[in-house]
Amino acid sequence: MSQEDKIKQAAEIIKNSTYIVAFTGAGISVESGIPDFRSPGGLWEKYNPNEYATYSTFLTHPVKYWTMHMELREMVIDAQPNSAHNALASLEHKYGKLKSVITQNVDFLHSRAGNTKVLEIHGTTQTSRCLGCDKTFYFTEVEEMLDQGQLPPRCPRCRGLIKPNTILFGEQLPYDVLEQSREEIMAADLLIVIGSSLTVYPAAALPSIAVQIGSGLIIVNKEFTPMDTYANVAIQGMAGIIMPKILAVLDEIL
Ligand code: APR
Repeated sequence: MSQEDKIKQAAEIIKNSTYIVAFTGAGISVESGIPDFRSPGGLWEKYNPNEYATYSTFLTHPVKYWTMHMELREMVIDAQPNSAHNALASLEHKYGKLKSVITQNVDFLHSRAGNTKVLEIHGTTQTSRCLGCDKTFYFTEVEEMLDQGQLPPRCPRCRGLIKPNTILFGEQLPYDVLEQSREEIMAADLLIVIGSSLTVYPAAALPSIAVQIGSGLIIVNKEFTPMDTYANVAIQGMAGIIMPKILAVLDEIL
């Protein structure tokens, strides 16, 4: 089947769906200037996740994590939602079909695009907390400490280590968010997966719930994923190009 036919098929499935949930990964933000993790040139090629992104190495070498954070923050701060994020916002507001976005991303771009129910299963960079007294810090507070040369940033109250509320390898995913994500997928008649290699568990297990309950499954990804064979339609391509094309066909057939 040609890509054009797949796009038409995806639009047809969306037209006939009433409760759509999106599941996204780093790939949806690549066209916003934020590299993904596992593509050639991705973040894990430059920063070995075993050294920079596990909970245990954060506790023993927090400077490594915060150094990576400072090198990446310009990219994230300047990033804008791209047309794939905006397409999901339209599916919620213009078409009234998208009910939630489950994202592995911590770049806040879905919220900035306008989606109102965003389930961040790998946490967020918007807040951090002190590992000593659990005090919460906002993004700007921590960035100020870093700009003043505090590396690693420490709690002014108890001098404990400050850690972003992103989920590092070896950390539990937020149970409540994971449960809400499962409930959303159980309620959905269509799951649209965008920009994820679907290789990191337990997040990657979520799309299989849609398959198990017989919901529709659309996958938009630059490369093949392990779930493609279970999808009603799997489209290989750039999300920022494919998603607007699907919505353009949807406009014609609605
Ligand atoms: N459009 C669509 N897909 C894209 C694009 C794009 N413009 N650019 C890259 N991709 C695809 C890649 O081909 C890849 O399959 O997006 C996928 C991104 O996969 P990963 O880099 O593995 O990112 P992700 O699936 O989000 O990783 C899950 O792993 O390291 C942890 O916590 C991290 O949340 C992350 C989790």
